[in-house]
Amino acid sequence: MVDIHCHILPGLDDGSDNLEESVRMARLAVDGGTKAIIATPHSNVPDSYRNYCNKSFVDTFNTLKERIKQENIPLKLYAGHEIFASGDIVTLIKTKRLLTLRNSRYPLIEFAFKERAEIVYQKLGELVAEGFTPIVAHPERYAFVAEDEFAPMRLKSMGCLLQVNKGSVKGSFGREAHVVSKSLIKHEVADFIASDAHSPYMRTTYLSDVHEIICDIRSQEYADLLLSINPEKVIRNKKIY
Ligand SMILES: [Fe+2]
Repeated sequence: MVDIHCHILPGLDDGSDNLEESVRMARLAVDGGTKAIIATPHSNVPDSYRNYCNKSFVDTFNTLKERIKQENIPLKLYAGHEIFASGDIVTLIKTKRLLTLRNSRYPLIEFAFKERAEIVYQKLGELVAEGFTPIVAHPERYAFVAEDEFAPMRLKSMGCLLQVNKGSVKGSFGREAHVVSKSLIKHEVADFIASDAHSPYMRTTYLSDVHEIICDIRSQEYADLLLSINPEKVIRNKKIY
């Protein structure tokens, strides 16, 4: 499996606190059948985590990558951002201050949980118009999705893809996110499942349990599509549909 959303880089956001925690997250990922992780720290969040790509960001990434290698952990690590949709994200991405997932056509985009629908569609539309294929992080957690059953299909019809969180499927983010995430899977509307892991203790990098849940809700083929086949296409910058 390939995990496209993971807060494994140490000390940059509310994810891993330090290098040792990051190494534990890497080991746990491998134990759960993950072969590659795209590190996606929160970024571009107003008055909070900025994390624009600079020397310090690259050094943090390279330090963890080197440590994973030294520890002989069979895990590939790639760089990305979980991009908070505020300001001129198109320019920030084009100038590489914000990273798409492994420098692909796919930026991982998040919103405030109560962001207004028109802002969401406007921001995503700007990215699509510039040739990007935005991946919407955890749509099941947003108010505008809970309030409009057609929102997921509208996002997809405008050219976005949907990444559901492992924790939502397991019921860790409340009833609404649980119900919506299961519906997205049951109707094969979701395109990815990712860990959105923040530590080796809670919200972890372990993915094989959620693979089993998807098999039960829908099918093994769809579980493989969400956790392996589509994420592989992202790291190779291949078209998904
Ligand atoms: Fe996240």
